[in-house]
Order: sequence, then structure tokens, then C-alpha cells
Amino acid sequence: MQLLSFAFLAFTALAAATSPRPHDPLANAKKVPWERLEIDKALLLILDLQVGLFQLARDFDHTLYQRNMMAHAALGKIFDIPVIMTTSAQQGPNGPLPKEILEMYPNAPLIQRNGQVSAWDNAEFQAAIKATNRTQIIVGGIVTDVCTTFLALALRQEGYSVWANVEASGTTTPLIRDISNDQMRNAGVNIVSLFYIVCDLMKNWNFTPGAKTILPWLDQYYPAYGMLARGHASAVENGTIIPGQIELITGADGKIKLT
Ligand SMILES: *[C@@H]1O[C@H](CO)[C@@H](O)[C@H](O)[C@H]1NC(C)=O
Ligand SMILES: *[C@@H]1O[C@H](CO)[C@@H](O)[C@H](O)[C@H]1NC(C)=O
Repeated sequence: MQLLSFAFLAFTALAAATSPRPHDPLANAKKVPWERLEIDKALLLILDLQVGLFQLARDFDHTLYQRNMMAHAALGKIFDIPVIMTTSAQQGPNGPLPKEILEMYPNAPLIQRNGQVSAWDNAEFQAAIKATNRTQIIVGGIVTDVCTTFLALALRQEGYSVWANVEASGTTTPLIRDISNDQMRNAGVNIVSLFYIVCDLMKNWNFTPGAKTILPWLDQYYPAYGMLARGHASAVENGTIIPGQIELITGADGKIKLT
């Protein structure tokens, strides 16, 4: 009898240990809590955005992607955050960075890797990152599945927080982009848009840098908002309300509804 009850207890203990834990839908969110980007913690990486590799970025229209690369690079300028550039085998077919990017940062480190596929495997690159003492790494590179993913995963392993600018990385197909972003996201990388990065670093249009710095940058690289701001400025400076327009903002009581 005693033996039987012991066996029963042992069985229930085993069952409790092996039964699946209740599923926690927020488990992933808790693993990597949401973290705000801060200007004094952020570091911008320009990773293998090389003229030869550019043609591998086929998941974007080329004209758009060229603008995306420049917009990513210019983040360092508008927020005055440190920038580190690196290239892979740039004397070979991969070629150099576009001259516009080199001219933006004549004094930033440019680590030329002569073999290492993952930038993290390069001691000089690692040392350059550590020397900045920054913990929030913003990255974009060609190609998404190799250059960006390898580095983003290595940075996560080293304890850095990582924001992959989804518009600044390019690869050969949407399928490859998607699995790469999934892989990074599973490792706690923030897969975010360019506008997300800009707005989280800025936080408030009244801050410095704020509207005065960011609007010209948006006008150059994010024309959806630049044109909107132009339209508003021209309307205020010399606008005329045309027939039918006023009704669009007039309520049922015949009064203009603005507040
Ligand atoms: C590096 O950053 C840490 C944490 O933000 C800070 O406590 C430390 O003083 C910094 N060190 C240098 C050399 O800037
Ligand atoms: C403002 O609009 C009026 C009327 O269309 C025009 O005559 C004037 O030149 C405009 N002002 C500017 C600065 O363009």
C-alpha cells in the first residue's frame, strides 16, 4: 500500500514536471522589453552599403533604396551621434562606399575588412564599437541576410540593444528579407522603419534637434512628409480656400470644427 501510494506520488510529480506550462502570450515581449532610443546612447553603423553590393538590394526599387541608404547615413548628422563605417573586400567587386557617404563622415572610422564576412569577427571593428561606449546600435547593411543579420545577432549576443533599420538593408528577394528579419526579431533585434528611428530619437518636435533640423531632413529623404510640410507652409504663407473646401471642416451646426 505504501509502495503504491509512493508510486502514485512519484507519477503525479512527474506529470506536473512534464505538463506544458500555461502559454504566456507576452513571453517574447518580456524577454526584450521595449526600450526608447536615446541620442546619448546611440551609435550608427553603415555596414557594407557598397557600390558593388548595391545591385544585390533587389527587394526595393533602386531609386528608393539609394535614397534609403543616404537617409540612413544622414541619421548621424542630424542627431550628432557617432558613426562607424565598414566595408567588405572593397578592393574587389564589392567596391567602396558611395562617395556621398564618405564625404558625410571624413573623420569617422572606416574599417575595411579583408575577409571577415561578419563585421563582428574583425577585431578593429569590435574595438571601434567598444571605444564609443554606446549601447544602442542602429544598423543597415547589404545584404540583409548576411551582413546585417550576422552582425545584429553577434551584437545581441554581446548584450547590445540593436535597431535594424528595415529600409536601409537590402537583399535579393522579399522571401530572404522576411526570414532574415524574423531571425533577427527572434533574437531581440528591433526591426523598425527609418521614420521610427527618427521620431524615437527626436521624441518631441519642440526638442533640439526637433522640427527645425528634422523637417529639412524629411524633405530630402522622406518626401511624403516633406511635401506635406511644404503644402502647409505655402497655404499659410499665401493660401486661398477654394469653393467646396470650407465645407470639409464645417460641422452640422455650421461652425468650423478645429478644436
Ligand atoms: C560608459 O557608459 C557607462 C554607462 O552609460 C557610464 O557609466 C560610463 O561612465 C561610460 N564610460 C565612459 C568612458 O564614457
Ligand atoms: C500670393 O498669391 C497671389 C495671388 O495668387 C499672387 O499674386 C502672389 O504673387 C503670391 N505671392 C507669392 C509670394 O507667391
